[in-house]
Amino acid sequence: MSHAAPLFQIDDLHVAVEGDEILKGVDLTVLPGEIHALMGPNGSGKSTLANALLGNPGYQVTAGRLLFKGEDVTTWPADVRGKSGMFLAFQYPQEIPGVSVINFLRQALSARKGVDLSILELRLAIMEWMKRLDMDPSFGDRYLNEGFSGGEKKRNEILQMAILEPDFAVLDETDSGLDIDALKVVATGVQEVRADRKELGVLLITHYQRILSYLQPDKVHVLIDGRIVDSGGPELAERLEQEGYEAWR
Ligand SMILES: Nc1ncnc2c1ncn2[C@@H]1O[C@H](COP(=O)(O)OP(=O)(O)O)[C@@H](O)[C@H]1O
Ligand SMILES: [Mg+2]
Repeated sequence: MSHAAPLFQIDDLHVAVEGDEILKGVDLTVLPGEIHALMGPNGSGKSTLANALLGNPGYQVTAGRLLFKGEDVTTWPADVRGKSGMFLAFQYPQEIPGVSVINFLRQALSARKGVDLSILELRLAIMEWMKRLDMDPSFGDRYLNEGFSGGEKKRNEILQMAILEPDFAVLDETDSGLDIDALKVVATGVQEVRADRKELGVLLITHYQRILSYLQPDKVHVLIDGRIVDSGGPELAERLEQEGYEAWR
């Protein structure tokens, strides 16, 4: 039995978007080193939760709180959350014209850690990770997300996660066009990063049962209509695959 202090705690979280309550009391606790999968049908509030964790100002927390390493981060702006070691892939812009993957990572790392790595040091670190993530070396010099395929976007997210060395990562599998290769990229990438960072906690938001065959979650949660209606082990994902969400409605 682990008695580790919680890494991230979502406590009775209520979130409204433009006055409509979308999340209606979500509780979830991630311990260091754990992978949690949050699954739910379209429109259940998965991305709303991701946005609220990020601190996106369009999502109002109307009740409840978020604790990261014991600190109440509910009202912290997104950049402060990032500095403190929370990673949310989509907190980064979709496309920045004229900024390369490497230069973007350099800025993001400097914001996260408050130190400036030399271009050379950073290039070496990135090269090493690109090798581990099975990425083409030319990738670093491409412009951020410009013309990236679904799989390349996911690789870029995982590369960001590897370089920024967060303690807690939220990955929202929003892209319904993700093919099986992109899913594998995410799964193996997360495993590679975890191999280096044993304490890393991951909240993987997905409506795919499939990714869970590559990535063994410690806990699976089912989100329906803004509430977690069930939590369990990986067997819950298997039940979802067989019975669909109807069993919980
Ligand atoms: N930015 C937004 N503006 C208006 N409605 C939103 C916004 N974000 C989410 N919603 C609404 O919240 C509900 C949940 O959406 P979402 O969190 O995207 O679900 P999921 O990611 O599970 O598919 C939907 O009814 C959606 O229309
Ligand atoms: Mg979504």
